[in-house]
Amino acid sequence: MCGIVGYIGSKDAKDMVLTGLQQLEYRGYDSAGIALVHNQEVKIYKDQGRVEHLRELCDFAFCSHLGIGHTRWATHGVPNKINSHPHISNNGRFVLVHNGVIENYKKIKYTYLNEYTFYSETDTEVVANLIEYFSNQGKDTRDAILMSISELEGSYALLVIDQKDPNKIYFAKNKTPLIIGVAYDGVTIASDVIPLAGHCDQYVGLEDKTFGYITKEEIHLFNYFNKEISLKMKNLDLKNNEFGKGDFDHFMLKEIHEQPSIIRHLIQEYFDKEKINISPEIIKCIKNCTKINLVACGTSMYASYMAKYYFEKLCNIPSEVFVASELVYSSPLILDKPCFIYLSQSGETADSIAVMKKFMDKGYPSIAITNSVASSMAHLATYHLDIFAGKEIAVASTKAYIAQIVVCAILAKAVSGQKTNLKNNLSKAALAIEKILEDKILIKNIAKEIVDATNVFYIGRGIDYWVCLEAALKLKEISYIHTEAFSSGELKHGSIALIDRGVPVIAICTQEGTNSIVRSNLIETKSRGAKDFVFAMESMSEPSDDFIIPNVAHYLAPIVSVVVCQLLAYYVATLKGNDVDKPKNLAKSVTVE
Ligand code: G6P
Repeated sequence: MCGIVGYIGSKDAKDMVLTGLQQLEYRGYDSAGIALVHNQEVKIYKDQGRVEHLRELCDFAFCSHLGIGHTRWATHGVPNKINSHPHISNNGRFVLVHNGVIENYKKIKYTYLNEYTFYSETDTEVVANLIEYFSNQGKDTRDAILMSISELEGSYALLVIDQKDPNKIYFAKNKTPLIIGVAYDGVTIASDVIPLAGHCDQYVGLEDKTFGYITKEEIHLFNYFNKEISLKMKNLDLKNNEFGKGDFDHFMLKEIHEQPSIIRHLIQEYFDKEKINISPEIIKCIKNCTKINLVACGTSMYASYMAKYYFEKLCNIPSEVFVASELVYSSPLILDKPCFIYLSQSGETADSIAVMKKFMDKGYPSIAITNSVASSMAHLATYHLDIFAGKEIAVASTKAYIAQIVVCAILAKAVSGQKTNLKNNLSKAALAIEKILEDKILIKNIAKEIVDATNVFYIGRGIDYWVCLEAALKLKEISYIHTEAFSSGELKHGSIALIDRGVPVIAICTQEGTNSIVRSNLIETKSRGAKDFVFAMESMSEPSDDFIIPNVAHYLAPIVSVVVCQLLAYYVATLKGNDVDKPKNLAKSVTVE
């Protein structure tokens, strides 16, 4: 996590870096800092708090043409000024920002840096001092950096300024993203393409284990054997206004509203009239396998449950969902010919990448389904499918969830080879979501009834239960109310002991086969004092239900019912006055294991 930005060029580096950092705050936002070169001297400003606060600290008139900055999601050491980046080496020569985790920082300390003083609790300060250590042995800065990174274990995107020659930004990259963008006025280097949008025409996403330096006119990239690598620049076709909130109060609300148009966009991208347009190699890869292993984290993992449903129902291929962080450290029984499908909004989630590498090394094919063609996972995987959701900025994922499910439904249909009404059904689902959005005031009213709760439970069965998992995650992550999802049949086996007077229990009922039994389970909680709510599909609704979900094909119900739950989470969080787009303790792109 953490976001880093560097700029060198003829524009004001302070503005470029601060604006870039603000755009990267989704990666972490507990502290922020910037180093700017002025009259060949480096000035550092940093503190706990948001980039907005840093902007206030930088209220000075001088103009700088080189700067590096950092927005932090604390791993080593509490969020405070001392632990904020940039960090400097003991003699003050090397100034550095870092995204990632240096796993062997303690070993480096006692192997090389016994004489050094450490002021922060971070792993990053070790890197600044290690560069100084090698530089003190007579190495030039590039070699000192190369020798340092060759010692590092873990993940890092580093930007370094050498105060003796403050006309360059040195960088190094391993296992965490770093992208260089080129404009007529200078060069930007950042953790994501967003800070490049609107002013860079071309970009290059760096490979792992590369390092180098940029000047105003030049980029030099090397591998760890110190061999210069040629740059494969790509055109950048992103506009700045794609990353604004528009007329919405929050990115999350904007992204919820984008969902119908994303479904329509996916239809355009993946359908050629009634025929599905997916590379035959991807279809063959899945058809040839005997089992599909779906690997993901967070919301993407909950989307994977729907993928499992589609692959099993439509393609008759046994499928299993794995939590990436567990699979990294376990050795499941792999039989015959498995295929691994990785769902990841960002394509940068460290645990998912680690699993991908592990199983690709064993020779198993991988399909990455991501929202970023420029991401590490899209790059590493054997095959890639884009979910075309447009950049998701709010930390709580919404549109990526439904886009992932839609792509998996399309993929499974394509593999099954069956004649399909999916296109039509998706169009109906987009209309149904629009209807929910029109009725959102009803959801706001429900939010008022649960805003003061300390516990909330979602219940459902089958695919409704999988939506409950995502609904509970959404509510807890932005409202901070303890929320759990239960398969309603399991309640009696222990969890019903948690039901007290007034505890909200929300049932999702969209499936004919389970509707009545979920309602019976809800009555059991009501008999024990629960405040019950029902979100039901129109065809099976009852007059007392709290929200009626327009009818859609049963297998697409999750992408519609989830919208009600997203809005409920949104309204509860705003009623509580929470920072909806940047909930506490979270980050959008989890690039550390
Ligand atoms: C973080 C985000 C979630 C996301 C999860 C997995 O926890 O806050 O919204 O679902 O990471 O991220 P990915 O990019 O792999 O989908």
